[in-house]
Amino acid sequence: MSPVNVAPIALPQRAATFPKNAWYVACTADEIDAKPLGRQICGIHMVFYRGVNNQVAALDDFCPHRGAPLSLGKVCEGKLVCGYHGLEMGCDGKTVAMPGQRVGGFPTITSYAVEERYGFIWVWPGDRALADPATIQQLEWHNHPDWAYGGGLFHIGCDYRLMIDNLMDLTHETYVHASSIGQKEIDETPCKTSLEGEQVVTSRFMSGIEAPPFWKMALRGNGLTDDVPVDRWQICRFTPPSSVMIEVGVAHQGHGGYDAPNDKKAYSVVVDFITPETETSIWYFWGMARKFNPKDTQLTAQIREGQGRIFTEDLEVLELQQRNLSAHPERKLLKLNIDTGGVQARRMLDKMIERERQAMDAPTAAQAQAA
Ligand code: FES
Ligand SMILES: [Fe+2]
Repeated sequence: MSPVNVAPIALPQRAATFPKNAWYVACTADEIDAKPLGRQICGIHMVFYRGVNNQVAALDDFCPHRGAPLSLGKVCEGKLVCGYHGLEMGCDGKTVAMPGQRVGGFPTITSYAVEERYGFIWVWPGDRALADPATIQQLEWHNHPDWAYGGGLFHIGCDYRLMIDNLMDLTHETYVHASSIGQKEIDETPCKTSLEGEQVVTSRFMSGIEAPPFWKMALRGNGLTDDVPVDRWQICRFTPPSSVMIEVGVAHQGHGGYDAPNDKKAYSVVVDFITPETETSIWYFWGMARKFNPKDTQLTAQIREGQGRIFTEDLEVLELQQRNLSAHPERKLLKLNIDTGGVQARRMLDKMIERERQAMDAPTAAQAQAA
């Protein structure tokens, strides 16, 4: 049979689902040690390593010689050495040397704006000329004597926005986390969603309830009895592109709830940085910063263990939800009042993505003049 000439079909370009001109948490500071780290962020394969003076660099994970991932190599005297034929790469994406070769004409690979702050490595996958480290979100609890922090990292097979939805609607706690933080009063208490500057805030306040098991443990961790009625709060703050900080806690009833003094409550911030790996997978950096009994490292470990178990329950739901959505992209989903926080967050993201698309489509000044 003779081969048939078929013109390639131009597939419609799918709209991006995440903004690229934004800071994302790429890894924790201790994930990059002497060895380079290869990680896909927003669809880009990157390599992270520490160059001279321990300064972190982020580059395309692609050796200009034959395309081997540079993350398979090693770091020697601040230079990244390709593990295939020994090309030495500099932090700026320019080849420094290669055994037996002149490297002056070697193509430069992309280097990304990267910052080490608060124990995390932050990367800007988009235009590095727009990357301003001053816009990295402030984490007041980091290295603060009144606070303790413990956390972890999960790789989850879901669209990053499903995790944002999950964290901006805590009614799921009643069902997904029934044995730890769930309770019927969450369902029974309406939440309020508002826009505060660049944040979407969804909050819920409950009063005179029994603390669920996780919060009983936290009360004991602050030297408080766990068998009296408490006031409980959940204040979810989404900051684009994908961080959700949730003020959570319980206070012995009658002391001001959220505003109760520290010795009458267990107050924490659930820390969530959700970094898209691809359109259907994420790096999920989770943790809890607590503002009570900060020196108790055993308590930190206990809370971390409890939180890890709780978030594993979310992981299972999200991956199976993604499987359903991928199998049925045509199906319309409901937007109920409990979904308002996630819907508002998506609206903010859509605007950012649209602004990026318009900037890409806009002709440069030179092109406009030539036209
Ligand atoms: S592929 Fe990297 S040196 Fe050859
Ligand atoms: Fe959850």
